[in-house]
Amino acid sequence: MKEKIDSPKATQALYKEIGIVNTRDMLGKALAGNYAVPAYNFNNMEQLQAIVTGCVESDSPFILQVSSGARKYANQTLLRWMSKGAVEMIRDMGSNLRFALHLDHGDTFDLCKSCIETGFSSVMIDGSHHSFEENIELTRRVVEYAHQYDVTVEGELGVLSGIEDDVQAAHSVYTQPGDVEKFVQRTGVDSLAISIGTSHGAYKFKAAQCERNEQGILVPPPLRFDILEEIERRIPGFPIVLHGASSVIPKYVNMINQFGGKLDDAVGIPNEQLRKAARSAVCKINIDSDGRLAMTALIRKTFAENPSEFDPRKYLGPARDELKRMIMEKNRDVLGSAGRGKDSAE
Ligand code: G3H
Ligand code: 13P
Ligand code: ZN
Repeated sequence: MKEKIDSPKATQALYKEIGIVNTRDMLGKALAGNYAVPAYNFNNMEQLQAIVTGCVESDSPFILQVSSGARKYANQTLLRWMSKGAVEMIRDMGSNLRFALHLDHGDTFDLCKSCIETGFSSVMIDGSHHSFEENIELTRRVVEYAHQYDVTVEGELGVLSGIEDDVQAAHSVYTQPGDVEKFVQRTGVDSLAISIGTSHGAYKFKAAQCERNEQGILVPPPLRFDILEEIERRIPGFPIVLHGASSVIPKYVNMINQFGGKLDDAVGIPNEQLRKAARSAVCKINIDSDGRLAMTALIRKTFAENPSEFDPRKYLGPARDELKRMIMEKNRDVLGSAGRGKDSAE
C-alpha cells in the first residue's frame, strides 16, 4: 500500500485507494433525507478517535475536516495515514461507514492541489474575501483540477465574521441570493457555503447584539432563513453548507469558567435553528468550536480535581470521551444524521 500512496503516478484519485469517498452522494442523500452531514474538524489522535467512534456508534455519515492550520500542526503525511487508519478502524468495528476527507477553508489553488495529491476526497476553496469575479475565477480553476480526480469542491459566497484560519473578517456580509446562480453555473462547484448570520469561534455575537432571557442567558439574533429560502428558490436541490455552526454549548462554557477558565459571554447558534437548517437545503454543517470547548472543559476539570496528574492519557482520555458523547448527541438531536450510515456508501 505504501508504494502506491507514495508513487506520483498513483496520485490519480488517491483517495479511492485510501478507501474514502467524496461528498457528492453523501450530500445528495442528506438533502433528500432532510438532514445534514456533520463536518468535524480534527488536529490530533484523540479528536479523530472521538469522531470515528462517535459516528460509528451513532451510525452517522461524516466528513473529517482539516484546516490549513491543522495540516501544518499535524503534518500532512501523518494526517493521510491517520485517515487510512480511520478506514481500517471502522472496518475493525464491524461497520461499513464511509467518510470524506475534506480541506476546510483552502485559500489558494496550490493548497487545494496539494491536498488532492495527498489523498483528500474533497476541498473547499474559500474565495469569499476576493471580489465576486476573482472568487469565480479561483473557484473555477480549482473545480477544473479537482474534477479530473473526482474530488468534490465547496465554494463560498458571502463573508462570515470571526477567524477563518489566517483570514480574519471583522464584519459578516450576508450572501446575496442574486449572485448564487451565476456563481454555481460559472464555477461548477459541488456545494456552496453561505453566510446567513453564523460566524466562527466561541464568540459569534457581541452581547449588544443579543437579548437576555429571564435566566440572564444571552439570546442571539435569529439566522436569516429568508436569505436561505431565496437561495433555495434560485438553485433548487443544490447542496448548501453552513459554517460557524457550533452552538457554543453552555454546559462546557460553564465548566471551563468553573475550573479556572475565562470565557465571558460566549454565545453560539441555538440548536433549534440548526435543526431547522438541517431540514432545508443545508446538508453539511461545520462544527469545530464545540469540540474544542468539550475537550477543554474536561481537561480543566481533570486538572482542577487531580492537580498531581501528569499522564496525558489521564486528561486527554476523559476529554476524548466527552467529545465522543457530544458528537453522538449532535448527530442524533441536531443534525438528524444518526442512523443514516448506509447513506455514506457511494
Ligand atoms: O473555520 C475554521 C476552523 O474552525 C478551523 O480553525 O484554522 O484554527 O484550525 P483553525
Ligand atoms: P465553529 O467555529 O462554529 O465550530 O465553525 C467551524 C467551521 O465553520 C469550520 O469551517
Ligand atoms: Zn468555516
